[in-house]
Amino acid sequence: MARHTVVTMPGDGIGKVVLPEAIRVLDAVGFDAEYVHADIGWEFWVKEGNPLPERTLDLLRKHKLGLFGAITSKPKKEAAEELDPSLRDEGHVYFSPIVGLRQKFNLDICIRPCRSFRGNLLNFIRKTPDGGVEEPAVDAVIFRQNTEGLYSGLEWTDPPAQVRDALATHPKFKPFAEVPNEDIAVSVRLFTRNACRRILTAAFEYADKHGYRSVTVCEKPNVLRETSGMMEEVAREVRKDYPSIQHWSTNIDAQMMWLTKNPEDYGVIVAGNLFGDIVSDAFAGLVGGLGFACSGNIGQDVAVFEPTHGSAPKYEKLDPPIVNPIAMILSAAMLLDHVGETDKATNIRDAVAAVVEEGKVRTYDMMRIPGGRDVLSRGAAMTPQVTDAILDRMGR
Ligand code: NAI
Ligand code: MG
Repeated sequence: MARHTVVTMPGDGIGKVVLPEAIRVLDAVGFDAEYVHADIGWEFWVKEGNPLPERTLDLLRKHKLGLFGAITSKPKKEAAEELDPSLRDEGHVYFSPIVGLRQKFNLDICIRPCRSFRGNLLNFIRKTPDGGVEEPAVDAVIFRQNTEGLYSGLEWTDPPAQVRDALATHPKFKPFAEVPNEDIAVSVRLFTRNACRRILTAAFEYADKHGYRSVTVCEKPNVLRETSGMMEEVAREVRKDYPSIQHWSTNIDAQMMWLTKNPEDYGVIVAGNLFGDIVSDAFAGLVGGLGFACSGNIGQDVAVFEPTHGSAPKYEKLDPPIVNPIAMILSAAMLLDHVGETDKATNIRDAVAAVVEEGKVRTYDMMRIPGGRDVLSRGAAMTPQVTDAILDRMGR
């Protein structure tokens, strides 16, 4: 029997293309695992009225480890229109199954490493005062609180009377007091001390273990005094256990500006859900963008690893496929780290680095050309060729 069982959830669109590539790499590196397929995504919304079927949750409950490709989400109206006619009027409401997974299993710690690979044409560069160009090595690891904040789903348009009444107890509600209820939309930004402590402890622990000198809390405590304020307060407490690591604080808006000035100065970054989403996409843009952005969603019991890109519907039907499998492959390497197979993870990352640096096998995004049917004739590699090159480098 294999040591690990991984629940594979390819999902929609290019999720189905990139996930098998990651498994080829895991097999080649000698990961002792078997894989069980689980249904997730648009197809199951349309057919069953549930994009995250209970049988998928059961598999994750049992095996605790997941690899996820990507899903397609569509706006409310389109979702309702595509639902199988026999299921309409049964009260099904579409929700994003990846957000659902994070909440169901309390996958509260999201890790998004953003590291530049040498030789990547997509790396951030800047001008030097003498007119030259420099390419700072970026190595930022974003820790995003994954279950609370503005993505908790606590929101209403036309809020119920109790909610409105509760809001009316706050002095700052005065300017809104006369607004008709149906013209009010509320999204709640709720932070808990416990979740702040977990994400901050995970971040400081990671910094300590991997030799980062700083943890930057990226919030907005001067305005969001309560929620961002709590994150800052807990950060000061947690930091006491890590005296060798500096605790920096930045405001999300200023951080977005500094990002392209001195990205190499940042190590581990911690943020709430929305700001973490923003700052991690921004850093990913400095190191190659969606084709390179990997992530892990980690709870106390279950962990799910996924590229941060979506299902890229415009490329889903292209055969041969042209999308970059590296984000998915790096996500699989994160899974290996998680189960303690760090040598194998390093082996994969080194091979990816070598392929990128060599620059012979590049998907269209790595060549900085627009995607489309013609990219292969313009010298771009197809998806499996990138994996082949990585396997070659691994000596498999
Ligand atoms: P997307 O990430 O699917 O694609 C945006 C663009 O990025 C693509 O058109 C393509 O040019 C490029 N791209 C993405 N992945 C790539 C790869 N591996 N290699 C090369 N190029 C790549 O985001 P979009 O277009 O905003 O959303 C499409 C669908 O995906 C939507 O239904 C959205 O809801 C869903 N989505 C799902 C996510 C998930 O499953 N975690 C995350 C983001 C979006
Ligand atoms: Mg995002």
